[in-house]
Amino acid sequence: MALKTLMYVCLLVAAMALASPMAEAQLGGLISGLLGLIRIQGTVFCTMDGNMGVNGTATPVFPNALVQLQCGAGNVVSSATTNGSGVFSILLDPLQFLLPSLLNNCNLAVKTPLSNCNAALPSVGGLISSLQSLGSTLVGLLNIINIVPAGFRLLPST
Ligand SMILES: *[C@@H]1O[C@H](CO)[C@@H](O)[C@H](O)[C@H]1NC(C)=O
Ligand SMILES: *[C@@H]1O[C@H](CO)[C@@H](O)[C@H](O)[C@H]1NC(C)=O
Repeated sequence: MALKTLMYVCLLVAAMALASPMAEAQLGGLISGLLGLIRIQGTVFCTMDGNMGVNGTATPVFPNALVQLQCGAGNVVSSATTNGSGVFSILLDPLQFLLPSLLNNCNLAVKTPLSNCNAALPSVGGLISSLQSLGSTLVGLLNIINIVPAGFRLLPST
């Protein structure tokens, strides 16, 4: 009985999609959206400015740091926590975010104080970085738009 209902609903949806070009276009948009992804990824370092220091890759990283994607007047759109290597990754649906507006209006903000990874670093203020696009890569059928932090700096009070 339930299966029969499900089949009926599927048929109905298919029929509607065929009958209306509008529905078909929406369906197409949804499918192409699902095949794309915006990935914001970067490493937070345990330094005064959150960037890789003079020691290069030997610079200590900042694990377990809360990184927020903030847009407009500080609206938190998404967040992630850095892993043991200081790496965070935020995935977004390209249908919900326009790339130019993302790059122009959004920032990455590290909410965990630097003193958490090194007691000698400030316990107030937070790291902030604008976004930079590295272009897109095709992984199988998935088009991934790669965005990285343009460079962190310490905002003395947030
Ligand atoms: C560079 O490495 C040395 C030795 O490990 C360390 O003492 C120093 O604090 C490091 N400097 C920076 C800026 O990471
Ligand atoms: C952190 O994430 C990065 C990217 O996914 C990965 O390469 C790295 O191995 C991870 N590190 C740890 C300690 O899990």
